[in-house]
Amino acid sequence: MLKIKNLHANIDGKEILNGIDLTVNAGEVHAIMGPNGSGKSTLASVIAGKEDFEVTEGEITMDNESIIEDSPEERAHKGIFLSFQYPVEIPGVSVTNFIKTSINESRKAQGLEEMGAKDMLKLLREKSELLGIDRKFLSRSLNEGFSGGEKKRNEIFQMAMLEPKLAILDETDSGLDIDALRVVANGVNTLKTKDNAVILITHYQRLLEYIVPDYVHVLHNGKIVKSGTKELALELEEKGYDWLKPESVV
Ligand SMILES: Nc1ncnc2c1ncn2[C@@H]1O[C@H](COP(=O)(O)OP(=O)(O)O)[C@@H](O)[C@H]1O
Ligand SMILES: [Mg+2]
Repeated sequence: MLKIKNLHANIDGKEILNGIDLTVNAGEVHAIMGPNGSGKSTLASVIAGKEDFEVTEGEITMDNESIIEDSPEERAHKGIFLSFQYPVEIPGVSVTNFIKTSINESRKAQGLEEMGAKDMLKLLREKSELLGIDRKFLSRSLNEGFSGGEKKRNEIFQMAMLEPKLAILDETDSGLDIDALRVVANGVNTLKTKDNAVILITHYQRLLEYIVPDYVHVLHNGKIVKSGTKELALELEEKGYDWLKPESVV
């Protein structure tokens, strides 16, 4: 599904990603771990096509087609979903309306008609039931100070509605309380199929007690310095990241 080869990316002339190789197949969950500042969020942004970063070398393909030249919107329409913790704050726009707009934008890009009100309602009902999300939450305004758990609920709900092929969830290192962790874990586990894939970015091993990844990669200074299975996450929990610094990895 997603193939990244020798990816280098800069911001303001500073190299942040320093030769990333990563292959994600359908049906897989990949966890990306690593200390603060190692480039985890940058990798997510570069895959999603955020324009602040300049790709200087390497290749990213989705289903064997290069996406390097694609805008973030085009990538989204090809099934790449990047969670955003702080959705645009537009007064009076509800969680539901925001999602309706996203879905219809995506349909338009694919040359499809807008989804009818009835179908949309059915989908909203189905997905909120699937995830155990209170319907009241869906009518809440996006700009009404969401708690950590509510932000996650919003994010996971968007993911459920948009049914991306590849979901990238960047669990930024602060403020993930146990409620938020459970929302993410339950969402990912419920929405996972053999046809989609998840890249889960996390600083802490804790989330991986709830979501069992197929692969774990450790990022350090913009490079994957070690890959393994879930046991690697346990090892990191025990030993920290220092033993993996490139100078100590032979
Ligand atoms: N917009 C930016 N401008 C300048 N430097 C940035 C920017 N975003 C990230 N960086 C730098 O890139 C490095 C990696 O950051 P980031 O990808 O956020 O790491 P992580 O998510 O692993 O904590 C850090 O040194 C950070 O300071
Ligand atoms: Mg980060």
